[in-house]
Amino acid sequence: MTARIIDGNAIAAQIKTEVKDEVTRLKARGVDPCLAAVLVGDVAASKVYVRNKRRSCEQVGMSSVLRTLPADVPEQELLQLIDELNNDSTVHGILVQLPLPDHIDETKVLQRMSPAKDVDGFHPINIGKLVIGFDTFRSCTPAGIQELLIRSGVDIAGKHVVILGRSNIVGKPMANILVQKHKHANATVTVCHSRTRDLPALARQGDILIAAMGQPEFVKAEMVAAGAIVVDVGINRVEDPASKKGYKLVGDVDFASVSKVASAITPVPGGVGPMTVAMLMVNTLKAARMSLAASST
Ligand code: GUN
Repeated sequence: MTARIIDGNAIAAQIKTEVKDEVTRLKARGVDPCLAAVLVGDVAASKVYVRNKRRSCEQVGMSSVLRTLPADVPEQELLQLIDELNNDSTVHGILVQLPLPDHIDETKVLQRMSPAKDVDGFHPINIGKLVIGFDTFRSCTPAGIQELLIRSGVDIAGKHVVILGRSNIVGKPMANILVQKHKHANATVTVCHSRTRDLPALARQGDILIAAMGQPEFVKAEMVAAGAIVVDVGINRVEDPASKKGYKLVGDVDFASVSKVASAITPVPGGVGPMTVAMLMVNTLKAARMSLAASST
């Protein structure tokens, strides 16, 4: 079997076109949706992610502002910046690019954000709403994966979804999204992690296998059921002397071997990555709409 390749770039472009139309409508009603991106320090990958997110804002007609702080910024200063952005009525969504430097308490920063502007869906209030199935900002990567599956024609209901990785950004919200009693969810979900006994045996049970543990090419063909749908969330830089940059990007899945047994697979790059950014646009649009509804009451 040769797996169908799920084109995240094409699906993300479609979503962004839909967002762009909505942004035009919202602007006509006097709201100019705006995302504030906060970048702390000098991590190369974070800079690339923030640049891509701002470029997407431009593509969909949204404004964005970038606030950069040095790596050694005192935590208090970052918290003050969050307060400032919370109180700025021209800013609808706030994104603090993670990871933050070690001396800063990430949970403190995320909790400082107004839940109404938390377009990453990382605030405990929004995570709590997600768990009980309320409408809220859903973390962009897992929401993007669900959307990718829906728009690729995958019927999720009743499927066994095996998630590798239990991060707060991907694994945990992914499990909570797909287990909901909802038309595009209703899955049976297993979450595996570093202490899971016989992970390959569990992975092989997945009708849908989602790899999000951050280990380059960890998932091999022997860990995948014939005909499974494989979603690769990993973006790992590995040394590659043949490349001009000196590195290449690989996922958490060994694409060459797994694409021979899976029925469908997301590539890296061009799979989940662009969907994360597209869902950030969806969430920022939602935040701007909510601000309009709040100001008219
Ligand atoms: N770092 C890795 N993924 C993400 C994400 O989705 N949002 C933010 N803010 N930081 C990240």
